[in-house]
Amino acid sequence: MTDLAPGTESTIPGKPTSASRTTLSHIMTHADTNLLGTVHGGVIMKLVDDAAGAVAGRHSGGPAVTASMDEMAFLEPVRVGDLVHVKAQVNWTGRTSMEVGVRVLAERWNESTPAQQVGSAYLVFAAVDADGKPRLVPPVIPESDRDRRRSQEAQIRRTHRLARRRAIMELRESRAAEGFDD
Ligand SMILES: CC(C)(COP(=O)(O)OP(=O)(O)OC[C@H]1O[C@@H](n2cnc3c(N)ncnc32)[C@H](O)[C@@H]1OP(=O)(O)O)[C@@H](O)C(=O)NCCC(=O)NCCS
Repeated sequence: MTDLAPGTESTIPGKPTSASRTTLSHIMTHADTNLLGTVHGGVIMKLVDDAAGAVAGRHSGGPAVTASMDEMAFLEPVRVGDLVHVKAQVNWTGRTSMEVGVRVLAERWNESTPAQQVGSAYLVFAAVDADGKPRLVPPVIPESDRDRRRSQEAQIRRTHRLARRRAIMELRESRAAEGFDD
């Protein structure tokens, strides 16, 4: 748990979403493929974590670590030669954590069609100090209706994450109290 006193709220001035929004682009090569010849999901996840980490660092003004990654969806296969764009922005901020939403788009190397969405993910980053302890983050200021919708959806995910974590901890504690050693 953080050493910050309970109820400590961020007094850091807010930052607009656009101040840290980022796109990371990468051309897929043969080194990125799985046995089927399409791009390995882990390659895309690394790019997602990289882009989200850049956004979290820019928004919080310092180091930030990945606390969780959830709802990673792979919608379409990515192929060698595709130009992949990973678009990331801060959706929501807590005291020391931020939810970063990521969309993955692919421009096919052999088609002149618009970039196609091939994936999406939501990551939580915790801003940390030099000792790795959580530190306060500036509130994010949504700038559009889309940003406001994303913020509201992020709060729903946050509520579910906390509830799930609490329920699992309670189950483990009650099993330990019953004498289970699993
Ligand atoms: C993430 C980490 C800093 C949290 O530290 P902690 O001592 O548990 O601190 P807290 O419980 O106060 O959590 C800090 C914030 O992160 C959030 N958080 C912590 N674990 C989380 C999780 N699993 N999912 C979502 N949010 C999480 C908390 O809700 C809190 O947010 P808030 O301040 O906005 O309310 C710590 O667990 C850590 O360093 N993990 C390793 C991170 C890492 O190395 N990532 C790269 C993997 S190689």
